[in-house]
Amino acid sequence: MLSQLGQVWVQMETSNRTASHALKTLKVAIDGPAGAGKSTVAQLAAKRLGYLYIDTGAMYRAATWLAVHRGIAITDGQAIADAASKANIRLEQGDESTSNRVKVFVDDQDITHGIRTNEISDLVSPVSSHSPLRKVMVAQQKELAKRGGVVLDGRDIGTVVMPDANLKIYLTASPEIRAKRRLKDLQALGESPVYEELLMSIADRDNRDSSRADSPLKQAEDAVVIITDNLTIDQVVDAIVKLCLAEAEEKR
Ligand code: C5P
Repeated sequence: MLSQLGQVWVQMETSNRTASHALKTLKVAIDGPAGAGKSTVAQLAAKRLGYLYIDTGAMYRAATWLAVHRGIAITDGQAIADAASKANIRLEQGDESTSNRVKVFVDDQDITHGIRTNEISDLVSPVSSHSPLRKVMVAQQKELAKRGGVVLDGRDIGTVVMPDANLKIYLTASPEIRAKRRLKDLQALGESPVYEELLMSIADRDNRDSSRADSPLKQAEDAVVIITDNLTIDQVVDAIVKLCLAEAEEKR
């Protein structure tokens, strides 16, 4: 853990052991629209901090995959919630075969790639707008987060899942940049998406996620906003780790 955090941590460790304890138990919430780079930076920040990383978008995608593959109507929120609470949805640290994104399993079936297709991306917003499903997912996410030492990313983390988070980040970027990133991700999966269609689909998802009645995507009042258009992944991760160090220092 020491070496993962690099020099800044080593300095903290020698100068202040209480801060290092505080640092181990922070709750970090990262919210923002699709394609802002949340999953990548959240995963890397969690790794550097030695924290558990929970990709809550992957959980909603898994629920959407369940609905599609079990023939449940996308409009039937209660049936989807029941299926999701009965199924064993498991997230594991990703590797190179998944471009380092989390691996996702439903009852031991590997659906890591299946949840990232265009079909699931287009259906996940309507599915995740169902309150019965959100209730199931939020309860699981709160349970996973309760001990701290966690980074959760999603849409409602700072507002609903962890309103008590020590650090709330709102990560965003222009729709064009986000569509270009999505294009690259899908090409890496062997798909041949059309940029203009991705741009429309991202705008559509932004609208649906921000206008739904239950837990819409919105910036928490106390969130730090990071616009990633002109930032590298490393710059964003460094900024988040530094904010965590400052937070731990304040908490001691
Ligand atoms: O993060 P990702 O783009 O994979 O999320 C997929 C979708 O899951 C989002 O567009 C949103 O509809 C839903 N979601 C949500 N609440 C979260 C995380 C994701 O509604 N906390």
